[in-house]
Amino acid sequence: MKNFITHLPKVELHLHIEGSLEPELMFELAKRNKVDIPFDTPEEVRKAYEFDDLQSFLDIYYKGANVLIHEQDFFDLTWAYMLRCQEDNVVHSEIFFDPQTHTERGIAFDTVINGISKALDKANKELNISSQLIICFLRHLDEAAAFETLQQALPYKDKIIAVGLDSSEQGHPPEKFARVFAKAIEEGFLTVAHAGEEGPAQNIWDALDMLKTSRIDHGVRCVEDPHLVETLAEQQIPLTVCPLSNIKLKVFKDMQQHNIVSLLRSGVCVTVNSDDPAYFGGYMNDNFYALADTHELTKQEIAQFSINAINASFIAPVAKEDLISAVRSYTASH
Ligand code: ADE
Ligand code: ZN
Repeated sequence: MKNFITHLPKVELHLHIEGSLEPELMFELAKRNKVDIPFDTPEEVRKAYEFDDLQSFLDIYYKGANVLIHEQDFFDLTWAYMLRCQEDNVVHSEIFFDPQTHTERGIAFDTVINGISKALDKANKELNISSQLIICFLRHLDEAAAFETLQQALPYKDKIIAVGLDSSEQGHPPEKFARVFAKAIEEGFLTVAHAGEEGPAQNIWDALDMLKTSRIDHGVRCVEDPHLVETLAEQQIPLTVCPLSNIKLKVFKDMQQHNIVSLLRSGVCVTVNSDDPAYFGGYMNDNFYALADTHELTKQEIAQFSINAINASFIAPVAKEDLISAVRSYTASH
């Protein structure tokens, strides 16, 4: 099964590029940019990655991003992730970045997006890995700040497919950003949102109704509302689920308790993703291995996660068909 997972063509739909900052690169950038970090070694950093909940993670995660200053830093960060995609046979990735984490520190929006985009272009040419970019608004900041960020994104419409919503879910429901999302849709962006990670099932309904999202990031708390689960399955509304993240942030007690497999068997379009792999102990393959280790999954079910991700992606319809054929023939030959 491990071998089957390793070589299975995969699509990632939930990855925060700032969450792929490995401690080694954090140290290198801290030195290069003369930024102080409160650790002596990368091992020490890894040891500090014990979280009680989403907020305890976010507090450390935003500090880690302080080492990212120049365009080259954003390029190096993104290129390192694309090399990990190659290793894990991820053929397409839809990547979040948080402009406000950087613009709040005085880093220009252009610096961030240019560094990321150049690495994505290089990966497309040299590694044959395609990608899309999604800007996320930080939901703990106010509506005006989100509008300002949307404004900064307008000149980059050709590089950004969608807007999203991340950061602290508790106390910051989707309705806070309904007007920003309406404007983003008017400007031609697709929409996604984190909902039902730590927040209630109602946030999922509200993200769909008020933010008109194409898919829901996380969404695992949908099970608290059986009518919602039925609707997600009937309308094939995708959930971008992140198993290792959910364990690290104590959304579930352990992987055995994770509900992704039962959602798959209920017909929900669930996908497997890594969220913030440098902080949560693994990239795409590690997430698949962890599920296969703790749940009795067939090869067809594992392949279904990949097919779901292709269907849920923003890839053009013809390319989707080619990828699905590739997954089906890979599965048939194993
Ligand atoms: N930002 C980075 N990772 C996140 C997560 N899992 N939930 C909300 N915001 C995030
Ligand atoms: Zn996330």
